[in-house]
Amino acid sequence: MGKNILVITGSPRKNGNSEMLADAFIKGAQSAGHETSKFEAAFKKINGCLACDKCWSADRACAAGDEFSKAEPLLEKADMIVFAFPLYWFSFPAQIKAFIDKLYAYLKTDAKRPLKIKSSAMLIAAGDENISVLDGIKKSFGFISSYMKWDNLGTLEAIGINVEGEIKETDYLAKAEEFGKQIISN
Ligand SMILES: Cc1cc2nc3c(=O)[nH]c(=O)nc-3n(C[C@H](O)[C@H](O)[C@H](O)COP(=O)(O)O)c2cc1C
Repeated sequence: MGKNILVITGSPRKNGNSEMLADAFIKGAQSAGHETSKFEAAFKKINGCLACDKCWSADRACAAGDEFSKAEPLLEKADMIVFAFPLYWFSFPAQIKAFIDKLYAYLKTDAKRPLKIKSSAMLIAAGDENISVLDGIKKSFGFISSYMKWDNLGTLEAIGINVEGEIKETDYLAKAEEFGKQIISN
């Protein structure tokens, strides 16, 4: 049976490399019978977690009521979460990090609508040609995934890509489509 896959994008470039990775992944996942949705975190106003501990005090996960609340219904029906973004400073772009910080609400024991996400993956575009620049973020995402009890299905590492849209000249988009196709239903 197909899964419900939520793809969170994090590049401020509308036709950027990681956006194209996201779209190729989605194409592959849809062709394999999965249902997908895309949330463009870079174009939403999402602040960092305020640690107010007022999660769920309004009828939403985050009491702050910024545009993270638009992602909540998508998160709550997802079986899998995929983050597609450019590597910034060897790490997540701020927009993606702010999104991840807000997942705190779903760890609360009194979460009104707990997540049912079972697996995760990343699609990353990076300018550097040295693959080891991704070591830190992969380690960090591994910890995040195990803390969230997500089965981390891996990272598509598109390295040596800088100019907007340059990824079209590589085979990374075919790889992303294949990655989407091969997501196993469980
Ligand atoms: C603020 C900023 C920080 C960046 N930091 C890194 C980095 O640490 N390592 C790297 O390989 N590329 C870095 N890059 C390059 C981007 O990851 C690269 O250009 C990527 O292809 C952009 O993807 P996009 O088109 O999806 O935005 C950085 C770019 C910006 C704008």
